[in-house]
Amino acid sequence: MRTTLSVIKADVGSIGGHIAPSQQLLHRVKEFVANEGRRLLLDSYISSTGDDIAILMTHTRGEGDPDIHEMAWNAFVAGTAVAKEQGLYGAGQDLLKDAFSGNVRGLGPAVAEMEIEERPNEPFLFFAADKTDPGAFNLPLYLAFTDPMHCPGLILSPKISKGFHFVIMDVGHVEGDRVIELNAPENLYDIATLLRDNQRFVVEGIYSRATGDQAVAVSTTRLHNIAGTYTGKDDPVMLVRTQSNFPATGEVLAPFSVGHFVAGCMRGSHNAPLMPVSLNCPTSYFDGPPLISCAAFCVHKGKLTEPADAFAHPFWNHVRDKVARKTLDIREQGFFGAAMLPMSELEYTGVMEKLHALDQQFYLRKEKMALAK
Ligand code: 13P
Ligand code: 13P
Ligand code: MG
Ligand code: MG
Repeated sequence: MRTTLSVIKADVGSIGGHIAPSQQLLHRVKEFVANEGRRLLLDSYISSTGDDIAILMTHTRGEGDPDIHEMAWNAFVAGTAVAKEQGLYGAGQDLLKDAFSGNVRGLGPAVAEMEIEERPNEPFLFFAADKTDPGAFNLPLYLAFTDPMHCPGLILSPKISKGFHFVIMDVGHVEGDRVIELNAPENLYDIATLLRDNQRFVVEGIYSRATGDQAVAVSTTRLHNIAGTYTGKDDPVMLVRTQSNFPATGEVLAPFSVGHFVAGCMRGSHNAPLMPVSLNCPTSYFDGPPLISCAAFCVHKGKLTEPADAFAHPFWNHVRDKVARKTLDIREQGFFGAAMLPMSELEYTGVMEKLHALDQQFYLRKEKMALAK
């Protein structure tokens, strides 16, 4: 059976700053999807990560279906009304356009979709991150799909040792989708060269070279490119199919133990390590640290099992402690150097205005000893 997995995610308001959506807001989105989704969906699952709400849906209408996208958009519009009634912070934050126009891509919400031929058993992982951007997935995907140190299946399993096909997007290009397709392992150094710059080049999709089947879909929305100014972080979502012709679930989860530094916490302007957390976890310290949650499912004939909370296991407490230590280490240097994003990425207009004003005060010293007098 051909099943489409669609996840559409937005921040439409949160309690106490950018912490978490209210129960009433979540309830409204769930209620809307339950009513309006009845004629479109086979199943759905709604969750929050930090202040973001994600609607995971199964259906048979393919990727980019206007009715599915419109229903999700309208669910967030309905949620925004509740957020306004409750006086939540940032009500409607990620709904950057006034009206829906065929597809939520380019309107603010993050979207990741895959149309798959369901295997007899179809395990997949749904990742949602808060206070970071789509480049946060570059390192874990690189490690899980190309590196036998994290994915021993690349040497142990004939099914996956043919490697993977990467589709990488240049998210700095605002006029349209600029992509490149590269194969691992032959183009490994080219893939690495691009993915190290995770503000500019992000993995959009990964495909099995043995079967051509899609393994990964990542949202690539950059809100800054849509709004032209800072409105919130691009908090990405990702779908990853696992086992059999793909890496095992544990091989995909393993790289998240690195707790690598990503862009995004506090005003979208700082680097901090990515912390794996339980489902529906709120945000906290320094509007961070950036969070990643993972709900593991099996889907059969479009019906989802209940989610298994992949980062709830006690093992991840140890990783969380490490990430907390790394967070405090980089926070010790405040806004200096690597702690704050480079100027090219800073989205706050205030710092740009200051730099412009200071620029006028610079002068070229004429005589070498001018300051000595
Ligand atoms: P597959 O049989 O799907 O390759 O899974 C093996 C596995 O789960 C080892 O961890
Ligand atoms: P969100 O994008 O999660 O709303 O975060 C905004 C922010 O920068 C908080 O400091
Ligand atoms: Mg927010
Ligand atoms: Mg958020």
